[in-house]
Amino acid sequence: MAQAQEKKDIWSADLYGEKVAPFVATSTETILAWLDPKPTDEILDIGSGEGPLTARIAPHVKRIVGIDGSPNMIEHFKNSYPHIESRVVDCRLLDQESDLITGGFDKVFSNAALHWILRDPETRSNTIKGCFEALKPGGLLINESGALGNVAEVHSAIISGLVTQGIPVEKAREASPWWFPSHQAMKGLVEGAGFNWVKGEVQLRQTTLTENEKGGVEGWIRLFGEPFLELLPTTEARDAAVKHAVDVLESVGRQQHDGSFTVNYIRLRFVAQKPE
Ligand code: BEZ
Repeated sequence: MAQAQEKKDIWSADLYGEKVAPFVATSTETILAWLDPKPTDEILDIGSGEGPLTARIAPHVKRIVGIDGSPNMIEHFKNSYPHIESRVVDCRLLDQESDLITGGFDKVFSNAALHWILRDPETRSNTIKGCFEALKPGGLLINESGALGNVAEVHSAIISGLVTQGIPVEKAREASPWWFPSHQAMKGLVEGAGFNWVKGEVQLRQTTLTENEKGGVEGWIRLFGEPFLELLPTTEARDAAVKHAVDVLESVGRQQHDGSFTVNYIRLRFVAQKPE
């Protein structure tokens, strides 16, 4: 069994929820319709973060458990929603969480998280195997995450910013914290764990970034691009890389009518079923 490396907790619940990415928990109509919560459902929410979406689902189901690898996010979850179960779990090794993988859940749900959790090829199948083992026979895995090409312009601009600061392009690429698979690649991974693929779709969702304090495209890069920026040894070098990325993006993402900034999110949604 591959051991996941210790990872730094890059998540700031304050920035994630309020300033940089409030849309993560709000652009969820379709995936919630696919989840189709029922009063008898017991649900495991993988990569729940600070729990705003878990809390929206909770009143409609028997039980929901939020799990996330970030202690900071789970601390905020517990403060905001003390009545909902939540805990810190390294979801890369979900198949080792003996009390979660007992075949007791009706649904395993995840929104905007699997592209982080499945980043490392060595542990990718451990997560999906863990989802499989957590479910009852006939149970459903319902996910929405980034697809191939997701936030491609920002991803490219960050890599370009690092290269201007002397980082070899291969090293910059390897530092990417995300796995954005094609529909086919995700289907192969999920079916490889024993699931039957029920349905899947890829959708462009253009997303306007908030320009609140610390927000906008610069805030996005500093929060989500932190694992890239860690390659650079000084604050000056990081600032220069971020400035380069923002300058490059200026001409592709800035809306002329109101000055807001748009990023091309591409979502991959799917439902898969554990055989009866
Ligand atoms: C996403 O939800 O697709 C996403 C969020 C942050 C960084 C990368 C992707």
